[in-house]
Amino acid sequence: TDILVLNGPNLGRLGTREPEVYGSESLADIGAYLAETVPGADVQLRQTDDEAELVRWIHEAVDRRIPVVLNPAAFTHYSYALRDAAAQLKTAGVPLVEVHLSNPHSRETFRHTSVISGVASGVIAGFGRDSYRLAVEQVLRLVA
Ligand code: DQA
Repeated sequence: TDILVLNGPNLGRLGTREPEVYGSESLADIGAYLAETVPGADVQLRQTDDEAELVRWIHEAVDRRIPVVLNPAAFTHYSYALRDAAAQLKTAGVPLVEVHLSNPHSRETFRHTSVISGVASGVIAGFGRDSYRLAVEQVLRLVA
């Protein structure tokens, strides 16, 4: 099963970015962890700091009907463009699982709002790399 695992701004810096919050693993390390722990998923891992690129990738997922695991990073909290893109997945009946490494609800107030969650199939947050693993496992169940 093809799954797009899409990552927003600053997630390319994982490993050195605020390790006390996000851990010491890079995004590539998380990709390797997914390949090892969920071998049934053909994960394509992508990261961009660019909102327009992320929106295009969601459009691609809609057109190709590929389920998405999305860590929208800071865009979670304010990108209506990303939400509107994600809404098209919902319309198409293609699963979208929102993930976060940290638990945004235990952090600053501005992180308590997600403009994405309302159009996601579900949300997994607070479990580091296992947030991604759980999301990929759930996508496999949703499309089985
Ligand atoms: C994050 C949480 C967001 O609030 C933050 O802007 C990120 C990462 C997470 O994975 O915990 O960049 O999405």
